[in-house]
Amino acid sequence: MAVSTIRYGAGVTKEVGMDLQNMGAKNVCLMTDKNLSHLPPVQTVMDSLVKNGINFKVYDHVRVEPTDTSFMEAIEFAKKGAFDAFLAVGGGSTIDTCKAANLYSSSPDSDFLDYVNAPIGKGKPVTVPLKPLIAVPTTSGTGSETTGVAIFDYEHLKVKTGIASRAIKPTLGLVDPLHTLHMPGRVVANSGFDVLCHALESYTALPYHMRSPCPSSPITRPAYQGSNPISDIWAVHALRIVAKYLKRYSRSLTSEEE
Ligand SMILES: NC(=O)c1ccc[n+]([C@@H]2O[C@H](COP(=O)([O-])OP(=O)(O)OC[C@H]3O[C@@H](n4cnc5c(N)ncnc54)[C@H](O)[C@@H]3O)[C@@H](O)[C@H]2O)c1
Repeated sequence: MAVSTIRYGAGVTKEVGMDLQNMGAKNVCLMTDKNLSHLPPVQTVMDSLVKNGINFKVYDHVRVEPTDTSFMEAIEFAKKGAFDAFLAVGGGSTIDTCKAANLYSSSPDSDFLDYVNAPIGKGKPVTVPLKPLIAVPTTSGTGSETTGVAIFDYEHLKVKTGIASRAIKPTLGLVDPLHTLHMPGRVVANSGFDVLCHALESYTALPYHMRSPCPSSPITRPAYQGSNPISDIWAVHALRIVAKYLKRYSRSLTSEEE
């Protein structure tokens, strides 16, 4: 099991400046989308950076539902900035874009398709060191702050694909439930369905011991390796949470809309 590092708590975002200071970051790339750049989650993050004397630049052109083109724009920004740490504040779109920006700016001679999943890309293993990436999720569905996956639409083939490697998993996820209070109703509902689908997929996935052939080296082992007894416990727990709360929320959304 490759476990992710997260810190959870209402208001925990305020600590991000201290975390970056503790990492010795001197030049941070803060990524978000246009909509969020005017909202309290990003403001709270910037206040913490200023308070702790962290030098940062903002990239707020993240595309909601990223594409290869939008990934490449973010990668260009990251390459030019020569950053020593990355900070993603947003939903899966922002966190995934930031992972790609960190990866390709750390591997500047790679072609975009080198790390994209085969057969669309070459699915090369990542062997270069990446910069630290802190993710502050503002939605509650993708769990991108815990995964080594970055998803995008590959426009040319009209397919949704991604990059999957443990190397792009955020160094730290700061999970602050206060951010979800700003989500529009539809984003709450869709995030809830994301949780439902992730949990169902995990629980019904082929068990890890039934997958074959075994990769030739641990570095080529896929990010998702099938279900296992521990992921089953979490998947069932997530399904119970969805069963209890998603319907309750949807009812309040319907009455709001009426
Ligand atoms: N990397 C992974 O492991 C993984 C897993 C599942 C999905 N994904 C990807 O994540 C993307 C979807 O991410 P998402 O559902 O988190 O949403 P998102 O990042 O696409 O954002 C959706 C919308 O909600 C807004 N928003 C987000 N948080 C808000 C807040 N707190 N207050 C107000 N507005 C807010 C955004 O500005 C945007 O307009 C898709 O591209 C999907 O493929 C990634």
